[in-house]
Amino acid sequence: MINEQEKTTRTKFNFLKQYYDETWDEAAHTLHVGLFKKETDSLPTAYKQATEHLLENIETIAPISKSSTVLDVGCGTGKTLIELCAKFGCSGVGVDLSDEQIKDAKIYVRELNAERKAKKLPKVKVQFVRASASELSQVFPKNEMFTHVISQDAIMLVADKQALYENVYRLLAPGGVFALADFLAQAAQSELTSNEHDLVYKMVNWNEGFSFKVYQQILQAVGLKIVKAEQRDQDMIWTYGKLAKKMKAYENKIDGTYTELKNRYEGIVSAVENDKMGWGFFFAEKPARKTALIAGTKTKSIGRYVAVALHKLGYEIWLYGRTAKNVDKAGWHERACDISSEKSIAKLLNEVKSLDLVLMMADAEGGHGILDGRYPVL
Ligand SMILES: C[S@@+](CC[C@H](N)C(=O)[O-])C[C@H]1O[C@@H](n2cnc3c(N)ncnc32)[C@H](O)[C@@H]1O
Repeated sequence: MINEQEKTTRTKFNFLKQYYDETWDEAAHTLHVGLFKKETDSLPTAYKQATEHLLENIETIAPISKSSTVLDVGCGTGKTLIELCAKFGCSGVGVDLSDEQIKDAKIYVRELNAERKAKKLPKVKVQFVRASASELSQVFPKNEMFTHVISQDAIMLVADKQALYENVYRLLAPGGVFALADFLAQAAQSELTSNEHDLVYKMVNWNEGFSFKVYQQILQAVGLKIVKAEQRDQDMIWTYGKLAKKMKAYENKIDGTYTELKNRYEGIVSAVENDKMGWGFFFAEKPARKTALIAGTKTKSIGRYVAVALHKLGYEIWLYGRTAKNVDKAGWHERACDISSEKSIAKLLNEVKSLDLVLMMADAEGGHGILDGRYPVL
């Protein structure tokens, strides 16, 4: 169940959707701050660059691949997630509070998949859920479902931020990445004038935010390791400055919402210039489990027995045998490897990124021992 505050946020975003589509990013319907390589970059270019920046940094930590599972928190119209899943062939889930944003996302992915089908291209594997990021424990009860969690300019609006961060940690697989861009509250709300408060917070129901420093402390407090953090206030000034200018074209509209938006954008520029708010990127990693490389994939081998026990203790398992089939489950991999062949060992080690424990257990017969009795099941 969402609280009253989020009900109001939902109503606001449902209402503002048509204005944002018309004035923020007419072509792609994204709704985030742009990243500028130079001041003269256009807004659509800057929006794209912001997403590219997020993805490029993810690539340096834990690249997205076909087997990745990506959660987008506050996905809006889902454009980032859809494009990402189309590019990498991975699967994704987008969560957003707004009915209108989710409706748009579902229409877009349906149309895209129809086009892809006609071109005999595989379906883009994305789902969209209308829900609050405060209630991720109900939406996703299973742990470690995602290899990557992304979010662009949405978390500041989430009412129960503690629940959100704890759930992100729970939902990430070990070694997974949380990559986000968000608004920063560089001054306490009490330090804002009532005009600044109305312009910056009230219109979109922004309840609270964190400074650049506190943001990092919070991510660390839930167990994540900060890989990179960047404060990029100038990009926010340019984005909102350009948007405010753009809104001049709507000055003569009778509908007062256009003027309210223009005033808000100008208010944000001034709040950032006065160090009261800002914008930043955070790239954090859920520390990887310890990794064990173990010989013996046969159903009743000692290797498999020990591997299951270590997996329960939280180890990432790489189990190998001469004739094994490829298996990949959460924290569990099986591979064929012939240890009399250097090439075969090299191929296996190329996949195993780090190693904390190596177990090669041979029985008296020279094979990998066959045990009696009850076997634990993965
Ligand atoms: C500034 S927009 C960003 C949308 C999208 N990430 C993008 O880059 O285009 C903020 C989004 O957060 C969503 N939102 C607000 N509160 C939320 C919450 N509690 N849970 C999930 N989404 C929320 C809004 O509906 C809106 O779509």
